[in-house]
Amino acid sequence: MRDPMMAVHRNNIRQEFVSTVVTVAGPHLPQPYALNTMHVDFKADFKKSGLRTMSDRYTKTAGSSLETIDPAHPAIFDKCDRFFDEEGLFAQVKAADLYPYFRPIEKNDGTRAIMKGREIIMAGSNNYLGLLSDPRVKKAAEDAIEQYGSGCTGSRFLNGTLDIHIELEEKLAAFMGTESCVLFSTGYMTNQGVIQSLASKGDLVFSDKDNHACIVAGTKVAMGETIRYRHDDMTHLRRLLEKASKDHPKAGKFIVTDGVFSMSGAIAKVPELVALAEEFGAALMLDDAHAVGVIGPGGRGSAASFGLGDRVHLTTGTFSKSFASLGGFVVGPHNVIEYIRHTASAHIFSASMPPSAVATVLKCLEILQEEPERLTRLWEISDYMRAGFKKAGFNVLKSQAPIIPVVANTMRTCLEMWHDLLEEGVFVNAVIPPAVPQGQSLLRTSYMATHTNEDMDFILDAFHRVGRKHGVISSNGTTA
Ligand SMILES: Cc1ncc(COP(=O)(O)O)c(C=O)c1O
Repeated sequence: MRDPMMAVHRNNIRQEFVSTVVTVAGPHLPQPYALNTMHVDFKADFKKSGLRTMSDRYTKTAGSSLETIDPAHPAIFDKCDRFFDEEGLFAQVKAADLYPYFRPIEKNDGTRAIMKGREIIMAGSNNYLGLLSDPRVKKAAEDAIEQYGSGCTGSRFLNGTLDIHIELEEKLAAFMGTESCVLFSTGYMTNQGVIQSLASKGDLVFSDKDNHACIVAGTKVAMGETIRYRHDDMTHLRRLLEKASKDHPKAGKFIVTDGVFSMSGAIAKVPELVALAEEFGAALMLDDAHAVGVIGPGGRGSAASFGLGDRVHLTTGTFSKSFASLGGFVVGPHNVIEYIRHTASAHIFSASMPPSAVATVLKCLEILQEEPERLTRLWEISDYMRAGFKKAGFNVLKSQAPIIPVVANTMRTCLEMWHDLLEEGVFVNAVIPPAVPQGQSLLRTSYMATHTNEDMDFILDAFHRVGRKHGVISSNGTTA
């Protein structure tokens, strides 16, 4: 069945991706290689190159008259040719072996992985509880395949509901202290689907400017209007809520934020958000992708970490991080969850979580509750690493979670540090504009409960050497 909402959604996502990769691909830059100029004014270079910017992205450059049509090269693909231009930034970064994305892992054991035949220490995974290679988890997944087969071959709505989907929904709702839960096939689809389902025409969504891309995707497919507030700025959010209440007194209001921000590792100001939601009659949803199984008592998430679990209306989460699998969920009041179950396009029109993934999450949830020491260790490690980076003079932004960003400033420094760290045997994630503002490129590090003390010191030592080499820190432990 063709779903017009999904068509709009797909188009939006494609546009987002194109915007990202074109920005990365960038202009024709001078020799010796393009990265030399990246620290100057990337936006200016971007324009100089003649590549389309956000505003003119929708203007067709070719094929606009019948005479110029070439059936083998529709104008819509022009941008793809430019992206791979051998003089462009993308090609130059690849040629310099500084391209940090889509690197294949040949074997993964959690804290250790094999890349290009070499063992590396993984400091760039969201496997927070270290359960990815736990024998009990692997066995549960194998048993589920034996019992139910390899997939569900259908949506939850039709033939894709297994008894273990329902068991997991009930166990998660109980764990989170809420009435109900509905599963989605990814965390991305959860946020996108919940917002699309609830924000109807005439409703208003208030969204933090640093929210994850899937929340942005949800606001784009939703029929309601979205108002973005400055990141973490409660005064700004209050002003917007006041104005909306005056201008649209009857509109349903929905505040949506990451519980833990995925790049900075900062925790949202949940007490202030709860107070504002209650004052203005808004629903509050926290995306706890990096919080459930990580923070709060027993890993119950960001609201629980402030003792406010019962004052937040909806919490979403993912199974691709602490739960070492794939899938997502939303918990909240029964009627709201049942409404989402019956109206979220991403839930109804997509195949359900495969049996092995569901069984993995069930086992991880059990281990999380039986082995609280995993969370204690995760926090010990995060605190040690954060203190170590700070002592060395690195800027770790407002990190409060097992996500610790290390600011590398320019894109070039970031990519070169990423490369050198990999040479040292440490894998981290390079985050460059537009994912972060210009001049704030960073190396996103993240930790798991199974890292050893030796691993931590190895990672810190590598960062010291590489940070000094690239002038990000000075030799006496201050920010350079
Ligand atoms: C804050 C946040 N929300 C949602 C998601 C999407 O989760 P998933 O990987 O399960 O699609 C992510 C994943 O990176 C995330 O960081």
